[in-house]
Amino acid sequence: MKTILDVRNLYKSFKDTKVLSDINFKVYEGEFIAIMGQSGSGKSTLLYSISGMDRPNSGNVLLYGQDISSLDDEKMSEVRLKQMGFIFQHSYLLKNLSIRDNIVLPGFKSGTLSREQVNQNADALMVKTGIVSVADHDIKNVSGGQLQRASICRALINQPDILFGDEPTGSLNSSTTKEVMDIINNVNREGTTVIIVTHDAKVAARADRVIFLMDGNIHDELNLGKYDRGEKKKSSREERLSEWLEKQGF
Ligand SMILES: Nc1ncnc2c1ncn2[C@@H]1O[C@H](COP(=O)(O)OP(=O)(O)O)[C@@H](O)[C@H]1O
Ligand SMILES: [Mg+2]
Repeated sequence: MKTILDVRNLYKSFKDTKVLSDINFKVYEGEFIAIMGQSGSGKSTLLYSISGMDRPNSGNVLLYGQDISSLDDEKMSEVRLKQMGFIFQHSYLLKNLSIRDNIVLPGFKSGTLSREQVNQNADALMVKTGIVSVADHDIKNVSGGQLQRASICRALINQPDILFGDEPTGSLNSSTTKEVMDIINNVNREGTTVIIVTHDAKVAARADRVIFLMDGNIHDELNLGKYDRGEKKKSSREERLSEWLEKQGF
């Protein structure tokens, strides 16, 4: 298995407050990782530090062997734009633009794909995520679930290597959560590596591997193996995870 991300001795503090220390882990190409832990344990900080949205104080983050923690801001934004996609609890789509325009924007910005390819990618993504019917709607006139699907499309427009999500289902109800997670599982199945932070055990149970953070350290990790949508053992997966989480004191 090829290593896509190699995190070595990551340390992060804000002023005098240590938030992350001794963080070491590898992510393999095509994996789906869920990061869990109590509120304030450093999950978001970890996600931002490994994705170049924030910088660690020390340690290294290697993306396909390239140390991205030492890149200047301009190079880092380029890596983020071309190789990474991001989704958050709330969508950061631009007002006064249609769903489609929001999705194609980072495609045109990156300059790696032709205009035609960007439009084709956007169409294919909207079909896959079921939002074609609202493509030309203003973002004010769609549901929360549709907004999050559009955010996923936007995150994937440049065909990134890794999709990062910070509580991507945090503001969705349980049926919309399921729909959005089906999409994320499909994206992963098609080859995109996925790393999300979540406090929802049902969401984390869809990951191959769950990393538990406690007070800024990796406390433990659980291997669940690949999620299979038709899986009869789905509930046993959730049971294994919830037993393990109980052991973590979650
Ligand atoms: N920009 C910041 N400045 C100062 N402290 C921060 C900042 N971001 C996070 N923290 C602190 O770092 C700790 C971990 O925060 P965070 O990574 O957001 O945790 P989680 O996502 O697990 O809830 C918290 O104590 C938080 O107050
Ligand atoms: Mg957080």
